[in-house]
Amino acid sequence: MQLLDSLGRTINYLRLSVTDRCNMRCFYCMPEAGVVKRGHEAILSYEELLLIAETAIGLGIEKVRITGGEPLVRAGIAGFLSRLAGISGLRHLALTTNGLLLAEMAADLHDAGVQRLNVSLDSLNPRTFAEITRGGDLKRVLEGLDAAERAGFPPPKLNVVIMRGINDNEILNLAELTRERGNPVRFIEYMPVVREDGWQRYCISGEEILKRLAKHHTLEQVDKGAFAGPSRDFRIPGARGTIGIITAVSGHFCSDCNRIRVTSTGQAKGCLFSDEKTDLIPYLRPPDPEGLARVLNEIVAAKPERHDITKDGYGHENFTMAQVGG
Ligand code: 5AD
Ligand code: SF4
Repeated sequence: MQLLDSLGRTINYLRLSVTDRCNMRCFYCMPEAGVVKRGHEAILSYEELLLIAETAIGLGIEKVRITGGEPLVRAGIAGFLSRLAGISGLRHLALTTNGLLLAEMAADLHDAGVQRLNVSLDSLNPRTFAEITRGGDLKRVLEGLDAAERAGFPPPKLNVVIMRGINDNEILNLAELTRERGNPVRFIEYMPVVREDGWQRYCISGEEILKRLAKHHTLEQVDKGAFAGPSRDFRIPGARGTIGIITAVSGHFCSDCNRIRVTSTGQAKGCLFSDEKTDLIPYLRPPDPEGLARVLNEIVAAKPERHDITKDGYGHENFTMAQVGG
């Protein structure tokens, strides 16, 4: 079964956030202080998350990515993942993590049936890394990447948010990881999710990132697979990993969008930057699979054509990626 939105985009990808908590505080994602701690009852139970996944898969979703916050801080995550992996019709199970707990957990995640990992890695300089993440330990993340490969994962995809004046001097070094370590590296345009005056100063367009890379490398264009979503992919000749560019703000993005998301509090969203959200709790407490299927179909049908952020500003409510799941 295929799930199509009103513009004919195939929606085959669900991003499911399992917690809004995180053991880091990346400045582009969360404010330093004042993050509201939600009680357990506000966060969907594993049973509820499984019902959402199963229902969405029944409608045509083929890939599920588990996000957070930081998914690995939630107790019992490996058991949940292995139940999720067992849902028939699910073709791809992936997880996004900041990598801090990966060294300890990689083997369990692999055993549970997770197929791919995305790891956030914004700098190879321990000091810059600690500044961006407000205290994260780069060494542990790098150990986590090694542990993932030892556990049997393909080299994790590295998500890099490029910010002018912060880590844009590392574009070439980070791209080098596609050769040295073989990881795919994805450069993501900084998105203004934490409302802060002067956010524009961090913005570097995907075009500029590409231009800077192209000064030093011949980049081959790489064809995308069915689940690739809104990134443009390139390769330094001979490199094992690809380089992806996500122009989240500057464009070329929404027309390839293939996803819906559900937050850890049960809010379903057709677009990351839209204020439109649908509360799934009425279909979960008590469980109402038919109602849930109907409402998920409606969310897909109502998926907006594109987001409304521009370089000058943006109209959406304030949120953190940790709430919405990146
Ligand atoms: N801009 C761009 N990407 C972001 N992420 C989180 N916040 C932002 C932001 N403001 C991405 C990071 C991280 C993933 C979970 O979400 O790349 O890897
Ligand atoms: Fe945590 Fe990821 Fe947000 Fe950083 S980007 S604070 S690691 S959820």
